[in-house]
Amino acid sequence: MKNVGIIGCGNILETYLRSEKYFNNINFTSCADINMDLAEKTARENNLQALTVDELLNDKNTDVVLNITIPQAHYEISKKTLQSGKHVYSEKPMCVKYDEAKELLKLAKDSSLYIGNAPDTFLGGGVQLSRKIIDDGSIGQILTGNFIFAFPGVQDFHPKPESWFQEGGGPVIDMGPYFFTTLVNLLGPAKNVRGRGAKFFDKREYKVGPNKGKTFDVEIPTSYMFNLEFHNGSIVQGFISFDVQNHMRNHIELYGSHGSIIVPDPNMFGGPVITSKELGSTWIKHSVEDKPLGKTNIKNHSGRSNEASEQSNYRGIGLSEMIDSIENDRIHRCNGDLALHVLDIIECSMISSIYKVEVDLRSTCERPKPLFDEEINKLLK
Ligand SMILES: NC(=O)c1ccc[n+]([C@@H]2O[C@H](COP(=O)([O-])OP(=O)(O)OC[C@H]3O[C@@H](n4cnc5c(N)ncnc54)[C@H](O)[C@@H]3O)[C@@H](O)[C@H]2O)c1
Repeated sequence: MKNVGIIGCGNILETYLRSEKYFNNINFTSCADINMDLAEKTARENNLQALTVDELLNDKNTDVVLNITIPQAHYEISKKTLQSGKHVYSEKPMCVKYDEAKELLKLAKDSSLYIGNAPDTFLGGGVQLSRKIIDDGSIGQILTGNFIFAFPGVQDFHPKPESWFQEGGGPVIDMGPYFFTTLVNLLGPAKNVRGRGAKFFDKREYKVGPNKGKTFDVEIPTSYMFNLEFHNGSIVQGFISFDVQNHMRNHIELYGSHGSIIVPDPNMFGGPVITSKELGSTWIKHSVEDKPLGKTNIKNHSGRSNEASEQSNYRGIGLSEMIDSIENDRIHRCNGDLALHVLDIIECSMISSIYKVEVDLRSTCERPKPLFDEEINKLLK
């Protein structure tokens, strides 16, 4: 069990507070935010201690900092955390610049501290079963594939959407981590990427909150297309967009030499995984409802953008598994090398899109080890 201090008391906080109820080694003790009123309100409502960021970083009772500030603040907060001698687990992405993420990883390694990073959704039943099916070889070698995440954008539900449309934001930084982390987990590290980005409108309208009806500036591309080559030879194309009103494909399809697999939504933990062995054959659904991190645990629509009305969301397993790794001196699954490689893919996609060339990645990483049910059961309450 480790005492965890939270920095950032925004939208995603509630999901993390739930993780304390699922996992037995997370003890949230304090919270901080640049907005002290919000930190105090959060603390009152959740029986935590409200601290300033500096107080939390210097607090002797805090072992691990959960950095759930906005992506543009991840670098500063994670760096200060490591400099204060504490382990850090950050929401995705690791930060918004590859060179800064590299510096964070070095700082963590030099200080013998853990740096962990969301997404942890690849540890869910859906992606872990997909990994098993691929590793077992029943659909052969993965040759090609595609993925898509697309929706109209966060302005529809977030009262402060500006940062998603400014430098350091955008669809690839926001949603790329789920897809790229899952693909690296399934296929191994990537080799190069070709990207194309597009901005269709210069302004967007706030749809909720105090500014509803007014507009704000769009400063960066809001749709991206990719072509990714992996070291294992697979070539996967993808599309991530804030310009699509509706679709039904929040998933990854991979095509192997002996069959095809539909990997469920990598933003979530559930299933089913769907496979088909040959042209015209029935698609077989493999349920993950019997998996500890696969079964549906959300039945009412919460209003959260990232949760459909029936879903499996066990966010926090990455933090819990990192705490367990700290206590047992192991490498954690959601580790800094993986997160740095994912950020490399993100940044190189954007570089490729600007210069209209294929870009070789600068980093590599190990595929995280599969997470078995016995290991998960030890962490569950
Ligand atoms: N909202 C979601 O559904 C969702 C889902 C998955 C992941 N995430 C990730 O979680 C992180 C937070 O997202 P969110 O939606 O909760 O954002 P948010 O804007 O709702 O909340 C972020 C909070 O961080 C605080 N903050 C910003 N800079 C800070 C600083 N320098 N020091 C201290 N506090 C600071 C802000 O005041 C705010 O309260 C992001 O990295 C995002 O990518 C969000």
